[in-house]
Amino acid sequence: MRVVQTIDALKEAKKKLAGSIGFVPTMGALHKGHLSLIQQAKQENDHVIVSVFVNPTQFLEGEDLESYPRKEEADKKICELAGVDILFMPSSDQMYEKDELKIAAPAIRGYILEGERRPGHFDGMLQVVMKLLNLSGAQKAYFGKKDAQQLVLIMQMVKTYFMNVQIVPCEIVRDEDGLALSSRNVYLSEEEKSRALSLSKSLKRATKCIMSGELDTKTIKNKMLEVLKETDRVEYVAIVDREFNNLKQIELGNTIILVAARVGKPRLIDNLWI
Ligand code: PAF
Repeated sequence: MRVVQTIDALKEAKKKLAGSIGFVPTMGALHKGHLSLIQQAKQENDHVIVSVFVNPTQFLEGEDLESYPRKEEADKKICELAGVDILFMPSSDQMYEKDELKIAAPAIRGYILEGERRPGHFDGMLQVVMKLLNLSGAQKAYFGKKDAQQLVLIMQMVKTYFMNVQIVPCEIVRDEDGLALSSRNVYLSEEEKSRALSLSKSLKRATKCIMSGELDTKTIKNKMLEVLKETDRVEYVAIVDREFNNLKQIELGNTIILVAARVGKPRLIDNLWI
């Protein structure tokens, strides 16, 4: 595996790869969720490039940019063992220039739910993902469904800018109790971890309702809120179609149920695609 820190070194390393490239962009502190993206990329491509870059432009003032978990040595080992060809770990100076051109998230879909709570977050995320996709030269790029709104916006960006890459949505990976894996889970104490399970439990409750024939989204949301009482604060429960329009009735095959809540310090998000 080649570990490269500069754009020039990445370009050089890529010259040695023949065949298709799968790309997995990350902010590091890799866990089993990232590993499953890497494994899928390995299966579907001749080569895999992973990036680890804690992107400053997607953090808002007062968010955890400084304290965001950084585990560079462990990340290198994980990528090496997973058979990654190139690990790209750039600095901010490599990625950004002064007064540069910006990508803006769409005015509605980029500013509801996560975008409403974190205004500007998706602008920075799209900016860096555009750069990373272009640098990787990959035919396919792998993103988890856990960040559902991020995934949908990236797909929209690829469509809007006629980008020549296929975005592959990948399933959410959970621990044995059902908690969706996230690098920010390290912030949770044991007690908070058990209360954090109410997010996935609320989604299970929604599944149960739907299986029993309940399709009214207001009723389903109310059932979910009962389970979410264990969290410190529910930020939203939303039931939308795959384009993030609110739904009154569940549409099987075209629905995402999303939840965001605070448990202790971190904001947790989870969702279910049905
Ligand atoms: O999901 C993430 O880890 C980040 O938002 C991403 C896509 C790597 C861009 O910084």
